Amino acid sequence: MNRRRLLGAGLAALLGPAAARAQMPAYAWDDGSVPFVVTPMEVVARMLQLADVGPGDTVIDLGSGDGRIVIEAARRGARALGIELDKSLVAAAEDNARAAGLAERARFEAMDLFAADLSAATVITLYLLPELNARLRPRLLALTPGTRIVSHDAGLGDWPFDERLELRVPDKPVGVGFSRVELWVVPARVAGIWNLELPEHGGRWTLRIAQRYQLLEVEVAATGGRDFVVPGVRLRGAQLALVTNGIVGRRAWRNVFSGTVEGGRITGELLASDGNESRSFAFTAVR
Ligand SMILES: C[S@@+](CC[C@H](N)C(=O)[O-])C[C@H]1O[C@@H](n2cnc3c(N)ncnc32)[C@H](O)[C@@H]1O
Repeated sequence: MNRRRLLGAGLAALLGPAAARAQMPAYAWDDGSVPFVVTPMEVVARMLQLADVGPGDTVIDLGSGDGRIVIEAARRGARALGIELDKSLVAAAEDNARAAGLAERARFEAMDLFAADLSAATVITLYLLPELNARLRPRLLALTPGTRIVSHDAGLGDWPFDERLELRVPDKPVGVGFSRVELWVVPARVAGIWNLELPEHGGRWTLRIAQRYQLLEVEVAATGGRDFVVPGVRLRGAQLALVTNGIVGRRAWRNVFSGTVEGGRITGELLASDGNESRSFAFTAVR
């Protein structure tokens, strides 16, 4: 017997009895599968805006339904692919893409999203249920740093989002007229001990980085410096920014490191200022 059950969060948590009558109900089936429920067009637009989708992007919508996210991404100049289990929805989505004159850039494949190759994606879009997202999380986290993931109404387990929108959507077909859209940017892996040489400013610097997703804890030391504190650190994809204040050459400096992480190397610029004088240095840190 194919019984439905109400899940505790995401799509399902937003449902009221009226909504369940109004449209295809957004319950998970007992086997955990996700039914077809559309993202309202205004929410589609905000998802693509939050992920900054444009020409040059490759967007993959996992569970693409009638194809609306894929078609709107193609309308913004991206190449877009929808992965959908239900063949009849794939056929409908292909018709919709043709009708929009976007069939060349908006393509669809009938398959299980867990079997899809996601490696070409610069943006992944999701409107699934929390438990499915949680199963996807390790694969999403392993994508190229900088890949954006945008999800409607369901999080990615304990991976904290980078940005969130909360929207009133009065004509949403399920729930109570409210949508949540969240963005994650796949972080580079930066955990470890990094060294860089700046003979004119602090000598050998050491950064000890502990990482949980995009959240970092950093300790800073330099052979020619002391008393460093780290009031700010941010990792977005492969872009690392780190502020550390401390004494170098008997003067108190604010040191702002900005760099790009590529494997075991960070290259970028240090801007140092003591309030009277500013200095800038190119740096390369290695792990
Ligand atoms: C809530 S709908 C979202 C449709 C569309 N992305 C949107 O936002 O309008 C989820 C879709 O995922 C599809 N789906 C569920 N499980 C899937 C799986 N394992 N592989 C591929 N598609 C799946 C369903 O058939 C359904 O069309």
